[in-house]
Amino acid sequence: MIAVTAVYPGSFDPVTNGHLDLIERGSKIFDRIVIGVLRNQEKQPLFNVSERVDMLREVTAGLANVEVEAFAGLLMEFARQKQARVILRGIRAVSDYEYELQMALMNRKLEPHVETIFMLPGEAYSYLSSKLVREVAQLGGSLQDLVPPLVEKRLRAKVS
Ligand code: PNS
Repeated sequence: MIAVTAVYPGSFDPVTNGHLDLIERGSKIFDRIVIGVLRNQEKQPLFNVSERVDMLREVTAGLANVEVEAFAGLLMEFARQKQARVILRGIRAVSDYEYELQMALMNRKLEPHVETIFMLPGEAYSYLSSKLVREVAQLGGSLQDLVPPLVEKRLRAKVS
């Protein structure tokens, strides 16, 4: 049997419990998950890429088959470097579908041998996004149950 590597790409600004839920589910299915943190964003991130990678490494330290790396440029090039056969993405609601469909089909055009596999995070996280987490943190609201405690601490330090 060939070991299957999945790349789980994203901005992760910052990682949320929804991301973690998906990583945990994925780590039970795939032999290896490489979390790819996008480096070259047009928008100005709240956390720089090494802060985002560090947080992800800390919160996934207990998962032996999960690695975290930054990447720049084409996702399919990163997947090739990692010898990944799968791109893992989470879909929360129907509203995610159109964007995800476009990306998955473009990625398939670029690299037909890599399949995008969608998974559903736990329903408790279906409304959760890094964008809303940043907004709630900036406005002083509680992030309990939405992000890991170390992420909440770093968010508070960042916005204070
Ligand atoms: O968490 P996000 O911001 O929804 O993740 C988006 C991401 C990182 C998956 C996407 O922007 C991406 O893959 N960027 C890399 C550039 C690329 O390969 N573009 C062409 C394929 S659509």
